[in-house]
Amino acid sequence: MIHKTLINDAKKVLNANFQEAGFTIPSKGLYPFQWKWDSGFIAIGLSYYNIAKAKLEVETLLNAQWNNGFIPHIIFHKENDSYFPGADFHCSELHPLSSKKHKSTGMTQPPITGFVLKEMYRIAEDKEDMLQFIQKHIDKVYENHLYFYTNRDPFNEGLMYIYHNWESGTDNSPVWDDIWKTMDPPEYAFERKDTTHVNASQRPSKREYDYYLHLIEIAKKHKYDDEKIAKISPFLVQDPLFNAMLIKSNEALIELYDLLGGEGAKKLVIQQWQQKSKKGFKKLFDAELGAYIHYDLRNKRPIRHITSSSFSPLFAGIPDVEKAKILTTTMLEKFGGEDKYLCASFDPTNDKFNPKKYWRGPVWINMNWMLYYGLKRYDYKELADRIKKDSIELIDRDGFFEYFDCRKENGEPNRTGYGGGNFSWSAALIIDLLKN
Ligand code: GLC
Repeated sequence: MIHKTLINDAKKVLNANFQEAGFTIPSKGLYPFQWKWDSGFIAIGLSYYNIAKAKLEVETLLNAQWNNGFIPHIIFHKENDSYFPGADFHCSELHPLSSKKHKSTGMTQPPITGFVLKEMYRIAEDKEDMLQFIQKHIDKVYENHLYFYTNRDPFNEGLMYIYHNWESGTDNSPVWDDIWKTMDPPEYAFERKDTTHVNASQRPSKREYDYYLHLIEIAKKHKYDDEKIAKISPFLVQDPLFNAMLIKSNEALIELYDLLGGEGAKKLVIQQWQQKSKKGFKKLFDAELGAYIHYDLRNKRPIRHITSSSFSPLFAGIPDVEKAKILTTTMLEKFGGEDKYLCASFDPTNDKFNPKKYWRGPVWINMNWMLYYGLKRYDYKELADRIKKDSIELIDRDGFFEYFDCRKENGEPNRTGYGGGNFSWSAALIIDLLKN
């Protein structure tokens, strides 16, 4: 019964956030545009009850693709001054191959569109119709992966770099803190908008925003040229989450091309990428920590912190069974105490853990969703079920928020979730978990 109500409420959230231009905003006020990976998660939820809207969501995103295959992290379909930094700050038109139709940022986000197409196929009742849709769009996703392998892997390791923390999707993770120490940006004067929507204690600091803006200024100075960025950006990181998403999407593209038939050459290319990336991924495993970690390419050092991203390779089938076992042990030991909901975004046993602050501790539903399927893939059914149960309980208890306190009792008499309310991917993915 509670499930039925939750599904209906989730649909209401998604319907209210839908925009006429053919996409869904993540959260009113706080995030008034189309975000790349949000759109993918949203399309999965929409597929359960409005396949036309799910297709439109993906189509609208892909329409903003640049001529070099790049897909930006935010598409500014319509002006809106409730968000900073907007289109005028990012100036995507600086890049010679950027979209002429759409203003956007000049950075990207985790490449999930490939596996989203596969999820849509799994969920769709009319498989034939969905295959036609996929046929129409799959090459764009292939071009996007080609962009990555051509431009984001300067040492040919099969591991893509990100040049901005916003490309990771995990904006203010403590993982970046040591990189900030290597930079000394000016104190920019600007008007924060996020803290007019959300309590500042749940958002990044002003100084952190200086770093974020500075990285964009550097990229802009070089017209978002990938080669230059790889050479000079103070932030250049191989992120296990970003790369696991690419591998998961590669896998989906191979399966979808198989279903469609007749694209043998492309399939072969993806298979080669896949082999290289899976091999390269070994670099990111830290045996002592028992987890996958980030690697700072600019300063040539591993970043030895455990985050929810550390476990995301399970979703892409990357670890062998032995490593998968190690990952689950680490998860249970560090993140899985009886007093906690799984899965905190940052190691709760680390001093930098903060249960309220965005990616420095709270639980995120998109990460839980991936971990649920990842654990199932390796037959950790009990742990998978716990993550699913925790996700449902959190949303039922705290509302459709952006992120959640992992402490079952946090001492607050009027407990709620944190960050933006009526948050689209929390709604979309809970539909999937409940229907599954
Ligand atoms: C925040 C999140 C990012 C998400 C965006 C829109 O910036 O860190 O992952 O895509 O909000 O929801």
